[in-house]
Amino acid sequence: MQLQGQVALVTGAGRGIGKAIALRFAREGADIAVVELNGEWAQTTGEEIKRLGRRVFVKTADVSDYEQIQATVGEAATALGKLDILVNNDGIGKGQRFLEISKENWERHLNIHLSGTFYCAQAAAREMVKQKYGRIVNIASVAGLMGPIDLAPYGAAKAGIMGLTRAAALDLADYGITVNAIAPGPIDTELLRTWPADALRERAQHLPVARLGTVEEIAHAALFLASPDSGFINGAVLVVDGGSVAAGAYMVEKYRRRKAGA
Ligand SMILES: NC(=O)c1ccc[n+]([C@@H]2O[C@H](COP(=O)([O-])OP(=O)(O)OC[C@H]3O[C@@H](n4cnc5c(N)ncnc54)[C@H](O)[C@@H]3O)[C@@H](O)[C@H]2O)c1
Repeated sequence: MQLQGQVALVTGAGRGIGKAIALRFAREGADIAVVELNGEWAQTTGEEIKRLGRRVFVKTADVSDYEQIQATVGEAATALGKLDILVNNDGIGKGQRFLEISKENWERHLNIHLSGTFYCAQAAAREMVKQKYGRIVNIASVAGLMGPIDLAPYGAAKAGIMGLTRAAALDLADYGITVNAIAPGPIDTELLRTWPADALRERAQHLPVARLGTVEEIAHAALFLASPDSGFINGAVLVVDGGSVAAGAYMVEKYRRRKAGA
């Protein structure tokens, strides 16, 4: 029970990584605010959290809408009494070749990932300063560390989240708030399952661990950064990717060939 008596707000908690984080935190004793674009998914996560015996606040909201987020974060803190933890998890990922990237696709990624993370972090920090304690965990991606193919808006937004993480970590340290990011590698979620099956299989083969990650593995990392014991970790990016960034493209190819006996 690492989060006994704490309150956590998780964005995009309707499915995938966000839902796994919300449920893991609830099992560790936290009351949860579920903020999610899809109302039905949000309700389902809320019911599951209630069944774990925790209090829950459910709100259908779009993180890229500044006014909605100001109101939602305030309502969540009022309903659950305070706010200790924010996980900026929600996200989208629409591939497009660089020469064909539309202005709309570019802006949507930047608005949801980068502006949404800032809006939620600022609103949450305004609650956290009242108690001089807080943990903010931003879900970035290895796509912000390595050039993703046909995903320039996504990669740029995720790199931006890492920059925002470092800046916010400095600005909020005086208030007892830490800000860190997680950079997941490919994780088996519905978002990734939109890829063609052979592309998914190949992606897994390019990881030293030779498999996709699980949502529970990201929830585990989020719990580590969100726990009271992690107060000395600030402005860090925790890569949780089965070793792909560490290996780099050349080493991974060598590894693959060695495994194949070539
Ligand atoms: N799955 C992966 O391989 C992977 C890898 C690296 C990083 N990530 C990141 O992890 C996060 C979660 O990814 P996932 O795979 O669980 O995706 P997912 O599509 O399964 O879940 C994302 C959730 O966010 C919600 N959402 C989308 N836009 C929103 C908005 N504007 N406001 C509020 N909620 C919104 C969706 O409705 C959905 O419930 C994303 O930020 C993603 O970029 C995922």
